[in-house]
Amino acid sequence: MPRTLKPARSVQGRISLPGDKSISHRFAMLAAIAEGRSILNNYSTGADCASTLACMRSLGVSIDHNGSKVVVEGVGLSGLKAPNAPLDAGNSGSTIRMLSGILAGQSFTSELTGDESLTKRPMKRIMTPLEQMGARIEAREGNFPPLRIQGGNLKAIHYDLPVASAQVKTAVLFAGMYAPGWTAVREPLPTRDHSEIALGGFGADVEVEGNEIRILGRPTLTGVDLTVPGDISSAAFFIAAALLLPGSELTIKGIGLNPTRASLLDLLRGMGADIEILDRRDEHGEPVGDILVRGPESAEGASLNGGVIEGAMTAAVIDEIPMLAVLGAASADGLIIRDAAELRVKETDRIATVADNLGRMGVAVEVEPDGLRIPGGQTFRPAELDSFGDHRIAMAFAVAALRASGDSELCNADAASVSFPEFYDLLDEVTES
Ligand code: S3P
Repeated sequence: MPRTLKPARSVQGRISLPGDKSISHRFAMLAAIAEGRSILNNYSTGADCASTLACMRSLGVSIDHNGSKVVVEGVGLSGLKAPNAPLDAGNSGSTIRMLSGILAGQSFTSELTGDESLTKRPMKRIMTPLEQMGARIEAREGNFPPLRIQGGNLKAIHYDLPVASAQVKTAVLFAGMYAPGWTAVREPLPTRDHSEIALGGFGADVEVEGNEIRILGRPTLTGVDLTVPGDISSAAFFIAAALLLPGSELTIKGIGLNPTRASLLDLLRGMGADIEILDRRDEHGEPVGDILVRGPESAEGASLNGGVIEGAMTAAVIDEIPMLAVLGAASADGLIIRDAAELRVKETDRIATVADNLGRMGVAVEVEPDGLRIPGGQTFRPAELDSFGDHRIAMAFAVAALRASGDSELCNADAASVSFPEFYDLLDEVTES
């Protein structure tokens, strides 16, 4: 059923958000193959991270999942059991790609699949290095799920990533745990480094030198008790809502500020956003803080300046681009987004689905093969919007609708629960109409 989205005057208050999706996946997978019990607090409540837990259970790991607390009884590096049915990664690219790295190291064969969107997403990028390490992988048309992975005696490799992808980097590092000696990955641009941090936290030997990350095979991982920081990619939607609505003042508590994720804040500050970080602290190697964001002083007051997002910045804010595109349309000078061809192979083709929804709101946009050009100073018409089943498209346009002059409708609004089931309730809680 479509969801009705009402315009709002401002957002106000203090909120906490569920745990980071990227970090939750990694903690759950590593906890499963660690020795002993791990306790993961503030685990992501999204369906994607539940898919990871379901896969680990099917691999013989006992997991107690209660709200955002997850207790994992680790089985050790070699303790996983052959699943008796295909593993279902649901909508989650992170689950299928990162878990493939672990499955490549197992002596059994496993099959991994997912929903309609996931079975259209490219897997060649993980197959190539994992096959070089010695795994045998079959895929539909040599690229798409379902994947059938015959693991084995892996050998260490040095791999130059052709695309900047943290999921591929992680698949190789995870497989590297099952290969004797040092496995190395070199990345063309920095990507999120949660795997490197988490592997170190569980006790693996990881070295980082420039753009190369190395892991020593056959580590003994030890169970941990830790708290997942709040998800900055979820915070992005609330930050944007505050920046779009005059007089807003919102504090978002306990958000992960890892520099490989927090470039979003630098980018927005560069566009003139009023964002402060309060109470900076460190939790298990991941920097955390409270984000205080203030909107423009008045409707006539300065909105954001525009800008260009390209190169390393595009890679750093890749998940936030749908939301940034909306902000770009409301900015003074507009936004140009380049080097973003990866958006075409996300949960939807996000260049197309962003442009489609902007168009529905009467916002002018030019589509390029690897990006978007969005003129500034535009207004948002109420519209019938569609997430096309993509969580970030749902949330980006739910926020855009706050700026419209009347009620909008959002089809497939439930897609938000893939990463952030509490999104609409929290948005209702902070919006003033
Ligand atoms: C993720 C990496 C990124 C990102 C995805 C989560 C991760 O994907 O878009 O939402 O947790 O490693 P790529 O590795 O495909 O760039």
